[in-house]
Amino acid sequence: MDRNFGKALVIITGASRGFGRSLAISVAPLLSAGSVMVLAARSGDRLEELQRELNVTGKTNLTVRCAAVDLGCKAGVERVVAETRSSDPEIDRLMLFHNAGDVSRYCRDFTDLDELNSYMSLNVSSALCLTAGVLQAVPGRTGLKRIIVNISSLCAVRPFPTWVQYCRPLDTDMQLEARSNSADDNIRNTCSLLHANGQLLTCEQSISKLLAVLLDDKYTSGDHLDYYDL
Ligand SMILES: NC(=O)c1ccc[n+]([C@@H]2O[C@H](COP(=O)([O-])OP(=O)(O)OC[C@H]3O[C@@H](n4cnc5c(N)ncnc54)[C@H](OP(=O)(O)O)[C@@H]3O)[C@@H](O)[C@H]2O)c1
Repeated sequence: MDRNFGKALVIITGASRGFGRSLAISVAPLLSAGSVMVLAARSGDRLEELQRELNVTGKTNLTVRCAAVDLGCKAGVERVVAETRSSDPEIDRLMLFHNAGDVSRYCRDFTDLDELNSYMSLNVSSALCLTAGVLQAVPGRTGLKRIIVNISSLCAVRPFPTWVQYCRPLDTDMQLEARSNSADDNIRNTCSLLHANGQLLTCEQSISKLLAVLLDDKYTSGDHLDYYDL
């Protein structure tokens, strides 16, 4: 049986590379005619390249919009919300994937409030504001399913120094950053070993499980789902 998400408005943050980019490529073929995909990240050129790729390989009736914005600031969040306002009111599904994240500015100490706030602004606050803005822009109604997916990490539920013992990271620029520039020697060394031993997950492995969960529609709202438990 053909399974798909129907006519949907899909928003993916951090779509310029890594997991977000692969996610956009995997979701596009599962959308029906008239769907809209909003791709957000700072690198406009990369987003436009992905937009071209989706238009060539995907369906011509999928509208892809790019929002080249910094999600760590108010204007960036507002621009993405604005892109969702003009969407077709007849959609079956709204899917917002919070995927943008940044580990490049490790806080080396917690005495600089501005540094800490700017880090939290992207990784925490902007996702909350974007969720609220998008839910307001696309109000609930019968027949519309609104799904918010927070791409998270085991680091969110366990202290960071132990994370490598319990999960395999994704093979993306973020993992490269962790094994090259992490301030913690143990994390840097373990990440390097995982990479050298070919123990990293591909984005496609992780995405195929995520999309199966969404298509099966059997999760409980608010669940924290781990790749290895699925
Ligand atoms: N890699 C792993 O091992 C791993 C493990 C568990 C969970 N995760 C989670 O998976 C998600 C994706 O990770 P990834 O490995 O694909 O990361 P990545 O390769 O570093 O990509 C991060 C994405 O976020 C965007 N981004 C960063 N700062 C931004 C900002 N200020 N405004 C807008 N967009 C911004 C980047 O685009 P621009 O630079 O163009 O803005 C990029 O598209 C993250 O939430 C991460 O925490 C990753």
